[in-house]
Amino acid sequence: MSLRIQIIIGSTRPGRFADKPVAWLVDRLDGRDDFELDVLDLRDHPLPLFDSPMPPARSLRDYPNEAVAELGRRFDSADGYIAVTSEYNHGYPASLKNAMDYVFPEFNKKPMSFVGYGNAGGARAIEQLRLVTVEFEMAPLRHAVHILPDLMRPAMMAAEEFTPALFESLDDRLEMMVSELVWWSSALKVARDAG
Ligand SMILES: Cc1cc2nc3c(=O)[nH]c(=O)nc-3n(C[C@H](O)[C@H](O)[C@H](O)COP(=O)(O)O)c2cc1C
Repeated sequence: MSLRIQIIIGSTRPGRFADKPVAWLVDRLDGRDDFELDVLDLRDHPLPLFDSPMPPARSLRDYPNEAVAELGRRFDSADGYIAVTSEYNHGYPASLKNAMDYVFPEFNKKPMSFVGYGNAGGARAIEQLRLVTVEFEMAPLRHAVHILPDLMRPAMMAAEEFTPALFESLDDRLEMMVSELVWWSSALKVARDAG
């Protein structure tokens, strides 16, 4: 079975830290034989504050314009997701919520795993995302990766010289998260395909 796992980069701000965990994830996950990796950068899908005339749970894939259609098709193409989330004021970034609100069936019956970072490893942002994904009829998964300041600080200092090895201590945790994500992605793909 061919599976497609999509990394969603939640932060879009200039100079974002997000690029560092994403570089580590791509280094560790690209080229595996159990899934194809896709990296969705929300910077490539700049959309206004949600302005669709109909709720996407009702309009389904009848997209209001090409920009929304492009994002919708991209989300649709994945069997499972890894949301990479920062934490802004104890929540996940508005850029991520805004993008998610533009779609609905694209996410249904698919799993999402989480990589968070911040003073509490993005734990509060991830907990909020878990609640939101239930509304999308998704399966939010348990084994997240939390990047705490002890690893964030050296990664920030490394600036241009950032290397994925700086997050090596999280490799086992990542493997646990990804095995769980692959299990759910393939199980739910079989179930979706069966109707
Ligand atoms: C508006 C704002 C609010 C923040 N609030 C929190 C917070 O509640 N908890 C936390 O751990 N870090 C917080 N931070 C610090 C972020 O974790 C840190 O800036 C991180 O680099 C943001 O991710 P990004 O650079 O990928 O956007 C906040 C940062 C900003 C800009």
